[in-house]
Amino acid sequence: MTTLGAIGATPRLGSTIKKSFGKTPDGQPVDLYVLTNISGAEVSITNYGGAVVSLKVPDRSGKLADVVLGYETADGYVNDKSYFGALVGRYGNRIAHAQFVLDGKTYTLAKNNGENSLHGGIKGFNKAVWAAKVLSTKDGQSLELSYLSKDGEEGFPGNLKVKVIYTLTDANALQIEYSAATDKKTVVNLTNHSYFNLAGQSSGNILGHQLMIQADKFTPVDASLIPTGELRDVAGTPFDFRKSTAIGARIDQEDEQLKLGGGYDHNFVLRRAAGVGESLAARVVEPTTGRVLEVWTTEPGVQFYTGNFLDGKTAGKGGMTYPRRAAFCLETQHYPDSPNQPKFPSVVLNPGERYHTITTYKFSVEK
Ligand code: BGC
Repeated sequence: MTTLGAIGATPRLGSTIKKSFGKTPDGQPVDLYVLTNISGAEVSITNYGGAVVSLKVPDRSGKLADVVLGYETADGYVNDKSYFGALVGRYGNRIAHAQFVLDGKTYTLAKNNGENSLHGGIKGFNKAVWAAKVLSTKDGQSLELSYLSKDGEEGFPGNLKVKVIYTLTDANALQIEYSAATDKKTVVNLTNHSYFNLAGQSSGNILGHQLMIQADKFTPVDASLIPTGELRDVAGTPFDFRKSTAIGARIDQEDEQLKLGGGYDHNFVLRRAAGVGESLAARVVEPTTGRVLEVWTTEPGVQFYTGNFLDGKTAGKGGMTYPRRAAFCLETQHYPDSPNQPKFPSVVLNPGERYHTITTYKFSVEK
């Protein structure tokens, strides 16, 4: 065990510990970095897939609980099909027919979700070993992860240099800063796929969590969960979370879109002014523990997913299995299938440009 970001050097900011987390199937060692802040909150991140493995934050009485789903060792992440906590790329969510056109050239991607490409393909960024560096910044302990996605990887054009900095602040926020640069025109959409349960990672379903999403519209989908292109008003639908509402209040309502997603599995169009830095995207309150999660982002959308495909079969942390709807995801992003949807905000990255987005998960409590 190594202590990095030494306590003596920066006493106010907690510390980071590095531990072995196992090996990849081809024998590469991978690590777990445990970052703590001055109030005792703690995040563990592995450089396998850049996944957030655990995240411990206090409830209203100060009791810490781990509020994300995950696995005990690297093997769990090697075999994972749910993207627990992972960094997702090169393209978060779906690209229809695993194909898109840039400057008249058709790029064909791996199909890993029926006819579509999902979350970067068969070997997305969640299955990569990232280079890791511990940083002590003015805001807290940080972990910098870097990855070079080669030209043609999973069918995407351009060598893409990606850097993600996770920072655990002393104010109990987990900030994720993503940047990337390419040497050929490409498409990029990076996100984190943490599954949250604010009552604790093995405490039943999330239907009683109260959710607010700052969105007047969402992007309805077809039967393969590809957006139809419409931006639909949430008003008068079960997708209206403009006022805080229990996640489960309408989830089983007769509704074409809920039926297609098996619950919520939709992109919400965030109400935010362009170029203003991070804005509040969503706020979640867990009434029994008082834990509150706010999601702030520079991104135009958020995928609200209610763990509809979890089936209780995967062995997670502490010997727990995770049943359907045991957690929710709020994946900040550009809209799914943007490369094929000219009316959606562009996901094209040109050589010489810098891809740069920030998302912060802020934790607090409500009495
Ligand atoms: C997608 C879901 C998918 C889940 C896990 C979400 O981002 O929208 O359809 O099942 O990720 O892959």
